[in-house]
Amino acid sequence: MAQKENRKRLLTGDRPSGPLHLGHYVGSLENRIKFQDQYDCYFIIADHEYLTDHIDNTEDFAKNVESLVLDYLSVGIDPEKCKIFIESQVPQIAELNLIFSMMVKMSRVQRNPTVKDELQSRGIEGASFGFVGWPIIQAADILSMRGEIVPVGEDQIPHIEQTREIARTFNSKFKEIFKEPEAIMGKVARLPGLDGKKMSKSLNNAIFLSDDAQTVENKINKAITDPSRIHANDPGHPEVCNIFSYYQAFAPELVADVERECRSGARSCSVCKKQMAEILNKFLDPIREKRKEAENNKDLIKEILNAGNKAAIAEAQTTLDLVKEAMKIDYKKLLD
Ligand code: TRP
Repeated sequence: MAQKENRKRLLTGDRPSGPLHLGHYVGSLENRIKFQDQYDCYFIIADHEYLTDHIDNTEDFAKNVESLVLDYLSVGIDPEKCKIFIESQVPQIAELNLIFSMMVKMSRVQRNPTVKDELQSRGIEGASFGFVGWPIIQAADILSMRGEIVPVGEDQIPHIEQTREIARTFNSKFKEIFKEPEAIMGKVARLPGLDGKKMSKSLNNAIFLSDDAQTVENKINKAITDPSRIHANDPGHPEVCNIFSYYQAFAPELVADVERECRSGARSCSVCKKQMAEILNKFLDPIREKRKEAENNKDLIKEILNAGNKAAIAEAQTTLDLVKEAMKIDYKKLLD
């Protein structure tokens, strides 16, 4: 393990939008677990970011925060090694967000591909003023902790790019404070949902880390495979099959055989599905076990979050002090 003090800092996180799914696992969680010995890890539960389009559902936030922490623990994120904290409990992040938002042109945020797609689908009237500032909040999350390594899924890459730009702008306008963070993607760029669209809770096509074995089996059975296969022994096309993507992500050692047997028609979709449900349940079993352990430990979540918030506040205050000093808005001469 690298010396604690010299380790680079890793920062990533999730909105408290509900249970995490397999897409989160391959996109980012797997990397977090892998890196927790190597980097100084901070995980943010981004409730301010979630407010950008959930101002009407705040009553669910607390429950969702709790379920996120349980998801983290269940996949093996170790609270002894990592800090887990809540964005809104660290007001310094909001202050940094305000400062950064003055450094970014409106046109630049609108060009952010992820924001642009969303704006197109909901229309400018359907988006809150705060919504377009989403990437800036994310930059404040990362840079407040002076994060250098950011494991994320593909859709988040534009935000990390924007964070790098904000770091550069700040450094050149005021003082070299920030390193440009580096995004790290999971081994599978994008795991499709059961219907082939992006796996997402809101599209109702996700397999959750907290699903029980029967639910996983039922969901896999309903998944869309190769629509051109009518009969069990029709030759298949793995490249269009969602279940095949799951083989690539969760059973890479079987991919070559599955592909050959599918193309020749020797392997039916129902055989493939049955086998995949078993593979996923075997993968999820220890995760379910760990979740149960954590659920039985009543004070655990409270302790983890309080410790994480405290550490994050200290880091963010250090950053904010540096920022204000560099900008000469600490009013040292006037106030001290
Ligand atoms: N925007 C991310 C998502 O929608 C979550 C997130 C918030 C995040 N802050 C972050 C990810 C900082 C990486 C770094 O999933």
